[in-house]
Amino acid sequence: MLNSFFKQNKRVKIAGLASLLLLMLSITGCSVKAPRQAAIASAHPLATQAGFEILQQGGNVYDAAVAVSAALAVVEPSGSGLGGGGFWLLHRESDDLDIMIDGREKAPLAAHKTMFLDTTGMADKQLSLNGVLAAGIPGMPAGLVHLSEKYGKLPLAVSLQPAIRYAEQGFQIDARHQKLLGFRQAILNQHPETAAIFLDNGQIPEKNSLLQQSDLAQTLKQIAAKGHAGFYQGSIADKLVNAVQQDGGIWTLKDLRKYQIVERQPITGRYKDIKITSAALPSSGGTVLVESLNILENIDLQAVDNITRKHLIVEAMRRAYHDRALYLGDADFVNVPSERLINKHYALGLSSTIRTDKAIPSDYLTGQIQEKQGGRNTTHFSIIDNQGNRVAATLSINFPFGAGLVAEGTGVLLNNEMDDFVSAKNSGNGYGLVGGDANAIAPEKRMLSSMTPTFLQDNQRIAVLGTPGGSRIISMVLLATLDFAAGHSPESWVNVKRFHHQYIPDQILYEKHGLSAEEITGLQALGHQLKPYYNYGNMQAVQLDKANNTLSAASDPRGEGQASVQQINE
Ligand code: GLY
Repeated sequence: MLNSFFKQNKRVKIAGLASLLLLMLSITGCSVKAPRQAAIASAHPLATQAGFEILQQGGNVYDAAVAVSAALAVVEPSGSGLGGGGFWLLHRESDDLDIMIDGREKAPLAAHKTMFLDTTGMADKQLSLNGVLAAGIPGMPAGLVHLSEKYGKLPLAVSLQPAIRYAEQGFQIDARHQKLLGFRQAILNQHPETAAIFLDNGQIPEKNSLLQQSDLAQTLKQIAAKGHAGFYQGSIADKLVNAVQQDGGIWTLKDLRKYQIVERQPITGRYKDIKITSAALPSSGGTVLVESLNILENIDLQAVDNITRKHLIVEAMRRAYHDRALYLGDADFVNVPSERLINKHYALGLSSTIRTDKAIPSDYLTGQIQEKQGGRNTTHFSIIDNQGNRVAATLSINFPFGAGLVAEGTGVLLNNEMDDFVSAKNSGNGYGLVGGDANAIAPEKRMLSSMTPTFLQDNQRIAVLGTPGGSRIISMVLLATLDFAAGHSPESWVNVKRFHHQYIPDQILYEKHGLSAEEITGLQALGHQLKPYYNYGNMQAVQLDKANNTLSAASDPRGEGQASVQQINE
């Protein structure tokens, strides 16, 4: 990892020197065409390399995004996959297009509001987290096909090649993969098909051992050859539905045939001179991010001491996550007061309820029952070229290794995204997030997400960022946005020490060693409960500095990803 850190920094410096040379030439009046360059940051070196491989073959950033997404599905099966879904936020410079491809999973047609309740009316977390009932209808394959066909230059069969190769030839598993296997080992062992792929006689394989996924390679080839129908119809669809039904699940061929992505207008907002473009519903990410920033815009964070600053950020998070719980769900099914929630006047009202000298308990906003926190999950990658074309994609199968079940003969690991619905009012999801009827289960509805693929733009810089981390995704992107606003680099955003408040539970979750003893005491004195947590998140960020046409990239030091800037051959 240290080796790749030096390698990537060298690349950043080389790219910077090239830009400086161009700047000097243009000052001296020489006309030169800027060489094409791109920056990619993803959670796995092989995924970053897949993106550059496709750019070098003449692909654009959207083809590269297809390659990175599919590669992550193979080399980071804990985070995302063909059996999951996600959001791809795109910007196309030629026509200034901003659009979000919503490839979120949908509830099956036979799903219903009470499907995860036990006989006493309590939510049965085993059902919504583990096994076939936990799986929504996947959106990832449809997202890849759409991204390639509508925005790419290369055939899907080309963009999927690196992923197919990684699945066929295998790759060496790293320590992070081992750790996440450990988190779900018992569940994986309940399903022989899954254990045969990911475990070694039920045990976690040695570090650097080769993981080959020949069935997954065949499924990718079907998608490469037949597009949407390669996954949602024909032999793969048959195998998926058979596997699910044999295990007592409710998917049908009609569910798969009907699945379509939706193109949505991203959420936009402003924080001081920064334009924010982020995920629309059914992700709460953009709404909660913009609402938090709108609240904070009314507060001079530079004028207060460090402890008060953290306290005020927490109070903004508390209020925005409160609205998440109250109002947010799939807007194709329920009325959501989105415009109000991201309105500056509304935020002014909320900020007036914040006190600098005292935490306001979440109960005072309205009461909800608290639940436990969840684990690591999901993945994110960021791509930008030096024209400003860009993709921020956050993709997920929810918990590590999703529902823990591979549909026999497909290599497709099923998601457990149904847990992101609200099953019962008295119960949070796997991340302790509470909610209301707006996010209740209904056939074909998309479950509320926290994924927050985001662009930030001021008059000099364009940033592309995002991270996994369940409910904590939004607060991580918020802290990184404040760091961007302070003028810092991608390296700094991904390193920011993290703290989080999601309204319920009423506590500040903070990275171990992320707060000093003095900060902890100071926040406690203001009335906050604090809970240390392991280092969380895996942020991937890239930036174009338009002033000197320089790209930079950074991958979260907590993960094993790779960020790189490279020149692309014309
Ligand atoms: N499954 C995590 C999310 O969508 O927020």
